[in-house]
Amino acid sequence: MCEAAPLQYPEETVARLEMLWGKGFMSVGGPEEVSAILDGVNLKNLNVLDIGCGIGGVDFLLVSEHGAASVLGLDVEPHLLELGRERAATAGLSDQVTFLLCASPPYPLGDRSFDVVFSKGAILHIPDKALLFYDAARILKPGGLFIASDWLRGGASIGDIKIENFGASGIILEATPPHEMEKAMRDAGFTSIVMTDQTDRYLDGARRDLEKMKGPLRDLAQKMLGAEGYEDWIALQVGTVERLAARSVQPTHIRATRG
Ligand SMILES: C[S@@+](CC[C@H](N)C(=O)[O-])C[C@H]1O[C@@H](n2cnc3c(N)ncnc32)[C@H](O)[C@@H]1O
Repeated sequence: MCEAAPLQYPEETVARLEMLWGKGFMSVGGPEEVSAILDGVNLKNLNVLDIGCGIGGVDFLLVSEHGAASVLGLDVEPHLLELGRERAATAGLSDQVTFLLCASPPYPLGDRSFDVVFSKGAILHIPDKALLFYDAARILKPGGLFIASDWLRGGASIGDIKIENFGASGIILEATPPHEMEKAMRDAGFTSIVMTDQTDRYLDGARRDLEKMKGPLRDLAQKMLGAEGYEDWIALQVGTVERLAARSVQPTHIRATRG
């Protein structure tokens, strides 16, 4: 279904995320985390689909630093894709990095049309994981790779994971337990599924981010967000640290091969 979805990432949220993780990056860790997700994977000459691409910072990096031949970024929010297109043009990458508005699978993309399906920090927003993986398997060439990083439900989760102060009303958070995610992938025909728990790394990173927000980023953030917005941002990050420490969420790197 390729229509815009209700706004989850307004401009001020994007500005806040970029302040923390760098220009173009809307999820934890920025370029270093992209390298960690891709550790040992060579994207040279491969065509990549990025599900939940945001404003495309990851996609520019996949082409310029990781050798991808092309990246198609798919997202639900038109204003994010518009910014991505502008930045692709400025960077001279419009031929290699393109964007598509689409809310939910099945996506209007051909069978066996991509070498790699990538996703960073976006799968938890997509409720129907079975359909997502089924469609990813359809789109991938045989032997193609699924590579992602996502927030799964941790072993200590009770009930829904609610995130206050995100800055976007009605945000969809459908974190899945690892075994359910793995089953959805297996049922869709993926093999060699490897899921690596990143909670300890993310907890260290979230604590470092909190210190940055209270220290070097404080003045800029207060100017950008106002006093109340700044306090909300700090509260959001404190919540992230607490959820990671309690293991109610489980950031996970995921790899699989389309059989
Ligand atoms: C945390 S951001 C990550 C963006 C990007 N991957 C990055 O790392 O910079 C999550 C992204 O998922 C997108 N998203 C939310 N629901 C989606 C859906 N149903 N299909 C595709 N993307 C979606 C949001 O618009 C947002 O851009």
